[in-house]
Amino acid sequence: MNDAADREERESDDAAQQALARDILARDRRHVWHPFTQHGTEAEPRLIAGARGASLYDAEGREILDLISSWWTCTHGHSHPALNQALAGQVARFEHVMFAGFTHQPAVDLASALSQLLPGDLARVFFSDDGSTSVEVALKIAYQYWANRGEGRRRVFISFDGGYHGDTLGAMSLGRGSGFFNLFRNMMCQVAVLPFPYTFEGDDAAEDREKGALTALEDRLSNGTHDVAALIVEPMLQGAGGMRMCRAEFLKRLVEIAQSIGVLVIFDEVATGFGRTGTLFAMQQAGVVPDLVCLSKGLTSGYMPMAVTVVRDKVFEAFLGDDFDRALPHGHSFTANPLACAVALRSLMLFAEEDTLGRIARIGARHRAMLSELSRREDVVRPRLLGSILAFDLKGEAGYQSAQSQALKVWFLAHGLNIRPLGSTIYLMPPYCITDEELARAYAGLIEGLDWLAANRP
Ligand SMILES: Cc1ncc(COP(=O)(O)O)c(C=O)c1O
Repeated sequence: MNDAADREERESDDAAQQALARDILARDRRHVWHPFTQHGTEAEPRLIAGARGASLYDAEGREILDLISSWWTCTHGHSHPALNQALAGQVARFEHVMFAGFTHQPAVDLASALSQLLPGDLARVFFSDDGSTSVEVALKIAYQYWANRGEGRRRVFISFDGGYHGDTLGAMSLGRGSGFFNLFRNMMCQVAVLPFPYTFEGDDAAEDREKGALTALEDRLSNGTHDVAALIVEPMLQGAGGMRMCRAEFLKRLVEIAQSIGVLVIFDEVATGFGRTGTLFAMQQAGVVPDLVCLSKGLTSGYMPMAVTVVRDKVFEAFLGDDFDRALPHGHSFTANPLACAVALRSLMLFAEEDTLGRIARIGARHRAMLSELSRREDVVRPRLLGSILAFDLKGEAGYQSAQSQALKVWFLAHGLNIRPLGSTIYLMPPYCITDEELARAYAGLIEGLDWLAANRP
């Protein structure tokens, strides 16, 4: 084929691709309802046609660095060859089978591996589909645990101001302190909300805040009514509430107080699990063992929707008996989906094979250097860092729909960076495979974006 014919063929391929992209976007506009989206005002979504490593590629081939790991799910990187292979291998064997009255090796292998990695006797795994359902399951288990033990008056849950646990009804109730769900207040179950002692670099009031939170807990627990079923907390890091970090000392004390009077402790590690905070699980930093833990997001490295609620033996044992009344009446069609289990298992193996915790430590060290630069800026407050997460707040801004951060989000995307601020909080939470060159690009874009904002305040 000569050059002219070659060029003509390429141009006609490009034209066909562009027509296809236009058609997909038109049908998206007509038929799709996107999450957390005001369709009345928001710009058209970016059409993604590929993803590899730390990057997404849109339909026109433009690269976008995925600096929030596709809603914190993607740990080892997009389209990882080992995970692709694990998925393909399982597809060739069997794709799905109901999980009551049947079992399969991928689920049993994954449950065994998780219970070996988790501390203490967190050894019984209940499978579900996403972060919200894993929390919903934890809530129901805690509630029924007390009913099965003849203490059905324990119906109140304790959670934290700014905590977020998902969007289903029970999870919304636990996350009422996030302020996202005020409209649904009348549908919620009983939850007492405590202050969360967040902290940041250079903070000298952390201990006072912690004392306040622990006193509030003790006050709530010592009112003599013994009506509390469980306490739920996002250990070390409140994610959606604004990447608010707390100290391990606080977490340790919190668990000691609750467990000392028998209140069940639920750790929501949906966001913090699988390395995000620098250790495989955030709970390891405080050296405590909760009674229940919720995991999702990074469980399958973002490949498949799956979650687990893992409980200590004593919790499981409270559901044993001679009739179904004591059993947990809960399950989903896709519980323990074998494809998801196979990918999750392979993802766990990658942590050792690729020295993933070492990679996270290297990302943390680079973040630290960036944090010092950010700390010197006038427009940055509360700089903070934990594991692979760098975060700070824009000075003088508040509210989930902060105009400045919305403007920044658009600027970042136009400059090839997927950074979605949470209100006035800007953060980076990249996939662990991100290279030094990509991180340097991310930091340069971050600084350039802040400079642009300073010069063009909306
Ligand atoms: C701590 C925490 N729990 C639960 C959830 C809900 O997970 P999902 O969106 O998968 O339902 C999230 C989601 O961001 C989360 O951060």
